Formats: sequence, C-alpha cells, structure tokens
Amino acid sequence: MSTYELIRRKRDGEELQPSEIDALIGGYVDGEIPDYQVAAFLMAVYFRGMTAGECHHLTRAMAASGERVDLSAIPGFKVDKHSTGGVGDTTSLVLGPLVASCGAVVAKMTGRELGHTGGTVDKLEAIPGVNLTRSKDDFIATAKKLGLSIVAQSQDLAPADKLLYALRNVTATVDAIPLIASSIMSKKLAAGADGIVLDVKTGNGAFTAGLPSAIDLARTMVDIGTDAGRRVVALVTSMDQPLGRAVGNALEVQEAIAALSGRGPRDLTELVLAMGCEMLVMAGAAASGKAAHDRLAAALGDGSALAKFRQYVSAMGGDPGTIDHPERLPTTKHHWPVCTPTAGYVTSIDSLRLGMASKSLGAGRPTKEAAIDPAAGILLHKKLGDAILASEPLATIHTNLGERVAQDAVLQIQQAYSIRPDPITPPPLLRARVTRQGVEELA
Ligand code: URA
Ligand code: CA
Repeated sequence: MSTYELIRRKRDGEELQPSEIDALIGGYVDGEIPDYQVAAFLMAVYFRGMTAGECHHLTRAMAASGERVDLSAIPGFKVDKHSTGGVGDTTSLVLGPLVASCGAVVAKMTGRELGHTGGTVDKLEAIPGVNLTRSKDDFIATAKKLGLSIVAQSQDLAPADKLLYALRNVTATVDAIPLIASSIMSKKLAAGADGIVLDVKTGNGAFTAGLPSAIDLARTMVDIGTDAGRRVVALVTSMDQPLGRAVGNALEVQEAIAALSGRGPRDLTELVLAMGCEMLVMAGAAASGKAAHDRLAAALGDGSALAKFRQYVSAMGGDPGTIDHPERLPTTKHHWPVCTPTAGYVTSIDSLRLGMASKSLGAGRPTKEAAIDPAAGILLHKKLGDAILASEPLATIHTNLGERVAQDAVLQIQQAYSIRPDPITPPPLLRARVTRQGVEELA
C-alpha cells in the first residue's frame, strides 16, 4: 500500500492494519518516508483518533525501532515510574531514592525538558559533577549495586519516538491521546522494567488538561503496558499548580533534599508517598498499602532515603557532600521578588505560564543546542488557597540574566496568579487510580 493511501485511509476514519503501521514507522525511521507525509498522518490521527488495536501496535512498532534494554541480570522485580510531565514536578528525585531505600529495585531511563515541562536529567545534572549519560552496563551495574539507577535515556531507545516527537512539536499534534500514550509507553517498554507506575497529570500545567482526557490517557497506557506483559498502575494527579515551591533545576534538587529529609512541601510529599506505595506493593516489597506507607514515612524520617540519594549522586560522579551542604549547589547572581498590589487569596495559578517564565530566566533551552542555567528558576511563596497581603512577595526569581528578562518574568508571574477577596479550598492532589480492573475516583 502507498503512503498516500495509508494517510487517506486514516483521514477517512478507517482502521489501519498492523503491517501498515509497521511500514509507516519503519519507512520513517529509515528515511524513506518524508516528514510531510508523516506530519499529515499525525494530523489525521489527531482528528480521527486510533482504535485500541492501532494504538497498541503503534507503540510496539515504536518500541521495536531501537534497542530493547534487558534488565534480567538485575535480580528481583524492577519498577519504573513516569510522569506525563508537569511544572516543578520534583517527584522522581525523591521517589527513586525513597523507594530503593525501602527495598525495591528502581531502574529508570529519563529525559530532558519537553515544552513547558522540566526534565529529570537536567535537574539531577544541576548537582556538580553528576553526569547521567551512562552506558547500558553502567545503568545495570548501578541498579544491581544500589537498587537505584536513573540515567539519561540512550540515543537508541525508541528512535521512532524521537523523530515523531520533534515533528509533533512543530505541527500542533503533541496533545493527542494515542500519540502521547504510544510515545511514553514505547520508551517504557523498551527500557525493560517489569512494572511501571504512571503519574498522569491533569490541570492547567498538563498536556491533558481536563480530568476525563487524563483518565482516558491513563487507561490507554495501562492497557498497552498490561497487554505487553508488564504490571502497570496509573495515578491521575493535579497539575493545577506547580508541585512544591521550587521550579528550576538546582532549586528542585534543594527541594528534593528537604523532602528526602522529611521536610518537604506537603503536596510533593503526599504525591511521593502515594506513588511510592504503588511501587512497593507492585514490587512485592510491602504486603499492603498501609505497610508500604509506614515504611516510606519511616525512611523519610530516619535518614535512610537521604543516604540512598547520597550513594546515587556519588555513583553518577557527583560530590555526595552537596547533599549535606545544599548551599554548594549553583546559585544565581540576582534574586528579584515578585510582589502583588492586591491583597486577598490565591484562587488560581497558571502552571504553564510559570513553566515558561522559569525557562525564560535560563532554566530551559531556547534552542536545541543551548545550555541551560542549572541555578535559574522560581521559588513560589504562595500557593492555591493561601492568603496574601498587599506588597507581600508571591515568588522570588532566580536568574543570571539581565533586568529586562527579569522584569518580563515578573509580569508573567503576576499574570499567572489570580488573587480574589474570597478564599477557596485548593483542589485535591490525587484524583483517580487507574488499573486494568477499572477507574477508582479518589476525589
Ligand atoms: N511525554 C512524552 O514522552 N511524550 C509525549 O508525547 C508527552 C509527554
Ligand atoms: Ca517542585
């Protein structure tokens, strides 16, 4: 079948055969099918969607486009976690060491920033000396030794996704559920973990803003993973405001160190405990959610989670002393307060806008080749539901860039906050739990 005919059939809402999807992905990765035809195909998928069968097959074809990591040399059940992407989402930095310190093996390949969202590789590499570009042997050896290995995803992991993602990014086809689900799950399947706990974000900082579409994405990913023989659970969680108070790489490392010491912001800690319970139970390291919760809480209180992070940082080439002296993390020359003329209560926060503001301060890459400034970002002093007095700071900007950039960001942050006379109750963080058995609404 010609590529033209394949695009036409998808455009007209027909279901594609597995062999047709293979031909499209194979032809694209081999350079035989040009961008413009794949772009047209993606737009057809955007409008027509995909059947479950098409989406599962697309995921398998993308996973098979590169290497498949074999983790069988690491004894025990290997568990991975993945978030669909948020703002100030510091979770992996805390969850990895915490869960490993409670006896499960965490093996995770992770990415850099994407759109308005930050990336775990960039955050961890804000620690002086840390380098997450590791060989597969190193990835496996670290997991064996520490029960914790988080490294940058290798160049050959699902190369079809790299190509498709770059094309989606410039053709307004990122936020389509079958495309997000296949993008994420192809990488998870290729990275080899036995079980995957997914954090699917909903809210104004998420790729799937509405709760129904986030639940739909969660179900799609759980089904794909389960059909491929993996254990998969998804929590649908709120991204109606950044998680915790820190947005930016070194700032988030500091926040993670506080959380690993039992002094983290409430929402970040709540999410880490909920995800951690799923991971420990899935891995067979705890008999029940209650037992898992107690174990995780103890590890945050007694220093064992932080000790695991120290070992991991050292294994990745960093100075473990940074963990005990976070003041050694990179800092910026300038700090600017962001004030508001209005007193009242914070009733909404535009997370996407804060994510973009943080990047403009140096925390993100303006071009693919640019370096990020690990020290740059935003520290939030006010979150949803908080009272604020006139002239009290909403946030502090951290940047090495000039006054004009800072003033621009001040404006963006002011506009991201709505302040009203009447208080609100902040929305719950945990919204739904999705397994193969169905959807359990949590709030
Ligand atoms: N994260 C991914 O890896 N892919 C998407 O499509 C969206 C978020
Ligand atoms: Ca944060």
